[in-house]
Amino acid sequence: MAQSVAAAAGLRGSVMLPADKSIAHRAAMFAAISTGCSTIGNFPESADPQSTLSCLRQLGVQISTAPGGKIEIEGVGKGGFQCPAMPLDCGNSGTTMRLLSGLMVGMPFATTLIGDASLSRRPMRRIGHPLRAMGANLELTDGCPPIRITPVPHLRGITYTLPVPSAQVKSCVLLAGLWAKENTVVIEPVPSRDHTERMLSLPIVHRRDGRHISSSRRVSPAGHTYSLPADFSAAAFFLVAASIVGGSTIVLPGVGLNPTRTGLLDALRTMGADIDIAERRTSGGEPVGQLTVRSAPLRSIQVAGSQIPGLIDEVPILAVAAACAEGRTLIRGAEELRVKECDRIHATVHNLRLMGAEVEEFDDGMAITGGRPLRAAVMDSFHDHRIAMAMAIAGLVASGTSTIRGSDIASVSFPGFWDALAALR
Ligand code: S3P
Repeated sequence: MAQSVAAAAGLRGSVMLPADKSIAHRAAMFAAISTGCSTIGNFPESADPQSTLSCLRQLGVQISTAPGGKIEIEGVGKGGFQCPAMPLDCGNSGTTMRLLSGLMVGMPFATTLIGDASLSRRPMRRIGHPLRAMGANLELTDGCPPIRITPVPHLRGITYTLPVPSAQVKSCVLLAGLWAKENTVVIEPVPSRDHTERMLSLPIVHRRDGRHISSSRRVSPAGHTYSLPADFSAAAFFLVAASIVGGSTIVLPGVGLNPTRTGLLDALRTMGADIDIAERRTSGGEPVGQLTVRSAPLRSIQVAGSQIPGLIDEVPILAVAAACAEGRTLIRGAEELRVKECDRIHATVHNLRLMGAEVEEFDDGMAITGGRPLRAAVMDSFHDHRIAMAMAIAGLVASGTSTIRGSDIASVSFPGFWDALAALR
């Protein structure tokens, strides 16, 4: 499928965003290993969290859907998963595969985890290495999926320092720690999103070498009513859209504002964006607020190092903002983007250049000199939801009508994206 995006004269309205994808995966998995029934309000219809639900169903977990997106999960407890008849298909979802692997290494049966073409190219040694150190039996395919896990009599607790800041790897090891004989400690030198430790109330100690997060077989979640905030990573596209399209005001209610996720908010404000936060509250242990963004002239910024994990999923849309900002924006230390749903550095640079932007590509990032008028182009999503949506926002400020090929991939995280964008015109 392809979507046309014409230049916009001003965007106005409020956007109902999908619920937070990262929290949704975790809520479903933690509900599944709980004792008792859990309810998750507003569970996203997007493909990635639905992949987690279908894997859990294959493991024998009863999940019923109620109107309004609410789901009920009948927890099977930590020992209750059943041997799946088929490989667990994680679709496009790295979070499903990496977190579920942490749970599957503790099972008394063999499991195979598979994914689509994009997920089948993503690096899994980053979980294979610590899981094997715990004694797990795990076979990768040239370092990638499929992942074949076979049972072992017991797992050892380990102390593991994350070599790359990754919430998926951190969570995978902490979840494997739920089955290990000894305590497991993950040391995180650079903070990454902390939903797993918040939701499981894992003990955290702050030391000079980073955050020490512990898990153990004593952690045993109970049935819970989860409420999910709107996804900041989905809000990101509208924060930039309203900032760069003159005469815009967009309201985004109930957005998750966990500080490990909102690096883009800080970056945009430093660039001069006009973003208000109102109705701040805490919901389900996560800070939440209503964002109102109005167009404003932007100036360049430099982001690097420890700032990157807090906006890792938002770099493509930050690059779009940078193309519309005065001066040279420098993004470094973002080499992890090369191994996301696509090579996001290449995809972003390629598409922005098609639009006439001045962009330099580095192994670990890019430099964008803003201010050149963007022209409409035919762009590819590279089968990556965030590239499709970021380039659609760039199309709003280009002269003429752009085309985003492979636009339906947006449904991986935001099935209503194209309608939501159209409704703001
Ligand atoms: C996620 C962690 C990040 C992020 C991904 C979701 C999570 O991945 O990019 O979209 O929910 O834990 P990495 O752990 O690979 O950085």
